[in-house]
Amino acid sequence: MIEFEQTFHNFLMRHQEKYNRTYHFLILMDAIVTAAKRIELYYRTGALKGNLGVAGSINVHGEDVMTMDDIAHEIVAHYLDQTQRVIQVVSEESEGIIDMNKEGGRYFVYFDPLDGSSNVAHGLPVGFMFGIAKRILEGSIRGPEDFHLRSGHEYIAAGMFVIPTGTFTLALHEAGCWRFHADETATYVKPVRMTLPEEPRKWELSFNAGNISAFSNKVQKWINANTDKYKFRYIGALAGDFHRLLSDGGLFMYPAIVNHPDPKENRPQGKLRLLYEANVVSFMCKEAGGDAIDETGTPILDIKPTKHHQRTTLYVGSKPIIEDLSKALKG
Ligand code: AHG
Ligand code: MN
Ligand code: MN
Repeated sequence: MIEFEQTFHNFLMRHQEKYNRTYHFLILMDAIVTAAKRIELYYRTGALKGNLGVAGSINVHGEDVMTMDDIAHEIVAHYLDQTQRVIQVVSEESEGIIDMNKEGGRYFVYFDPLDGSSNVAHGLPVGFMFGIAKRILEGSIRGPEDFHLRSGHEYIAAGMFVIPTGTFTLALHEAGCWRFHADETATYVKPVRMTLPEEPRKWELSFNAGNISAFSNKVQKWINANTDKYKFRYIGALAGDFHRLLSDGGLFMYPAIVNHPDPKENRPQGKLRLLYEANVVSFMCKEAGGDAIDETGTPILDIKPTKHHQRTTLYVGSKPIIEDLSKALKG
C-alpha cells in the first residue's frame, strides 16, 4: 500500500470548510507557496548563475545582477498580484506601499521576501516571512479604515519558509501554528502542530551577543542573571532562529541599541521591522502558546503601526521567560 501524507493544500481546504470560509484564502496561499518555491530555486542555483551579487552591478556576461533580496521581492509581488485577491502589499524591498487590486482585493500582505541576507553569500539559511490581514468585509469598501496598516492582532495568518531547507510554518488565527515539509515532489505535506515545550530543558537563548555592551543596563542585568541557564544559538536570520525556537522553546530578542560607543549607531527602536518581521514571529509564537513584547513591555501584536516600515524592539518566546523579562524591563 502506498502511504500518503496530507498535503498543505488539503489541510487548508479542510480548515476553510471547517470554519465556513471561502476558497479565496487558498488562492492567496497557493501564490505564496509558488513564490517560495521559486525563491528557493533561485537561491539554490544563484551562485552558479551569478544571482547572488550586488544589485545594479554587472556580471561577467555583461548582464544586470540582482541581489537575492530584489529577486525574491519581484517573485513574491508578481504571484500576489496575479491572484487579484490582494489589495495592497508592504515589502521590505519597496519603499512605498504597493497597490494591487484596490477595488476587488480582499487581503493585505506584509512581507520580508528575503530575511537574513547576510547568510546569502555563505549559502546558509534565509527566510521568506509574511503576515496577512483582511479587508473589512461588511458591506463594500468602507473608506480609509479599509486601507490602513493593521496591528498584529488583526492578522488572520502569518508564516515563514526557511530556504533552502524545505520547511514551511503557518499560523492561523486561533487555529494553531503548523509546520510542513517539502516532499520529493516539492509539495508541502504532513502538518505538525507546533507548541512551545513547557519544560525548560531544551530552551535556548538567541540574540546577537556582539551587541551586549550596547544594550540598556536593565537588559544587560537580565542577561547576566540568566544566560547560564540556557544554551545559546544565533543563525543571524530571524526566520532560522525562530524556527528553532518553535521546536525547542526559549527566547529570541533584538533589544534596543542605546549604549553604542558611536552614538550615531544607536537604534533605540531596535532593528527589526514590525509589520513583516516582529508581527509575523509574534503571531506564530502566540498560536504556539508563547508570547512577545517590546522593550516597554507592550505586547508586540498590540502595537498600532504609524509607518509601514516601522521598527520595533522584540522579545519573543516561551511565556515564563517573557513574563520574567516584562518585570525586569519595567522594574
Ligand atoms: P534582513 O536580511 O531581512 O534585513 O533581516 C536581517 C535581520 C534578521 O533576520 C536577523 O535576525 C537580524 O537582522 C540580524 O541582525 P544582526 O546582524 O544585527 O545580528
Ligand atoms: Mn529580515
Ligand atoms: Mn529582508
